Amino acid sequence: MTEDVPEREARAFELPDGDTIFITQRDGVFYAYKNLCPHLQVELEFLENQFLDQDQEYIECSTHGALFQVDTGECVAGPCSGEFLQKRAIEVHSDGGIYLR
Ligand code: FES
Repeated sequence: MTEDVPEREARAFELPDGDTIFITQRDGVFYAYKNLCPHLQVELEFLENQFLDQDQEYIECSTHGALFQVDTGECVAGPCSGEFLQKRAIEVHSDGGIYLR
């Protein structure tokens, strides 16, 4: 549900296929990515639901501090610069539900 993902915060969700994704909200738009850093294929967060940097501006990998743009998933700083997080297509329905496409 949209209310579970406040603006400039992120929440992890486990999918039935075993993948973990996280969803974050920026300027009223929701973005979902697979929880996998393109650098070493490890999960991004160290603390639960801690996917954003201190200023809540970028998505951050806790292992080596790579920073990713929220809207595109592009790594803009760190060892995987120019690579991308794997985006998952989602739809927000009028009932407030967030669904994977
Ligand atoms: S594993 Fe994410 S930056 Fe190295």
